[in-house]
Amino acid sequence: MQVMDERVATGGQRQPPPRPRSVGVIGGTGALGRGLAVRLAAAGHSVRLGSRDFQRARAAAEMLGEGVTGASNVDACDSELVVFAVPWAAHEVTLASLRDALDGRIVIDCVNPLGFDERGPFALAVADGSATQQADELLADSTVVGAFHHVSAELLLAAGELDADVLVVGDDRPAVEQVIELIDSISGLRGVYAGRLRNAGQVEALTANLIAINRRYRVQSGIRVTGLAASSDSSQ
Ligand SMILES: NC(=O)c1ccc[n+]([C@@H]2O[C@H](COP(=O)([O-])OP(=O)(O)OC[C@H]3O[C@@H](n4cnc5c(N)ncnc54)[C@H](OP(=O)(O)O)[C@@H]3O)[C@@H](O)[C@H]2O)c1
Repeated sequence: MQVMDERVATGGQRQPPPRPRSVGVIGGTGALGRGLAVRLAAAGHSVRLGSRDFQRARAAAEMLGEGVTGASNVDACDSELVVFAVPWAAHEVTLASLRDALDGRIVIDCVNPLGFDERGPFALAVADGSATQQADELLADSTVVGAFHHVSAELLLAAGELDADVLVVGDDRPAVEQVIELIDSISGLRGVYAGRLRNAGQVEALTANLIAINRRYRVQSGIRVTGLAASSDSSQ
């Protein structure tokens, strides 16, 4: 995959190369984890796929190529930024088990608490307000940011160009900016600040609408925010 040097979000203006970061992915053998890993690695970042089973992580990393490596979930936490991509049912218990390893890290929570029944997808009620807020409650010594909720793993894993915005929620401005910078480094994605952590619930819930759209129209839909200047500068 090609390393990006131009961005959709800036109307094709040449951008400086992204600052290479170390990124760990918890639940990295899943569809979203692998999809983000391959795109981040293609953007020049050093990516470690985490799994409960190191051998599974190593096999998944070898399949992806791009220099992605496999690790235990604990070892994957030893990264500047850590993407958290496990199923909602495993969110709380996995966070709790990795709390010490995640100390001092920026944790990017992508988890959508959703249910599915005969009428389709729906948002689950979460006691803390959202998965992202639950992570923030559990990880007192980490900085939690929510992002990537609406990015289709299928599109990430396919060879095609991406074309979507990524809503980013968080209370810590420098951490939010780092996550937006990471997102912007992925060709075809633009990070957009979308409010504080208390706004994470509706971002996560919106995924139920997107899945309903996908099912009705047989597409992989995404989000595009209109009205922004070409640059996604969120420091205004
Ligand atoms: N799929 C998408 O398009 C998409 C898009 C945006 C957001 N998301 C969100 O991202 C998260 C991951 O989605 P996904 O589709 O990649 O999920 P997934 O494939 O079902 O699971 C991801 C990984 O989580 C680990 N895992 C599974 N059960 C676990 C458990 N009980 N305890 C600890 N780890 C467990 C597994 O890795 P190991 O067995 O190797 O440990 C698995 O490969 C979800 O919360 C989803 O809402 C998904």
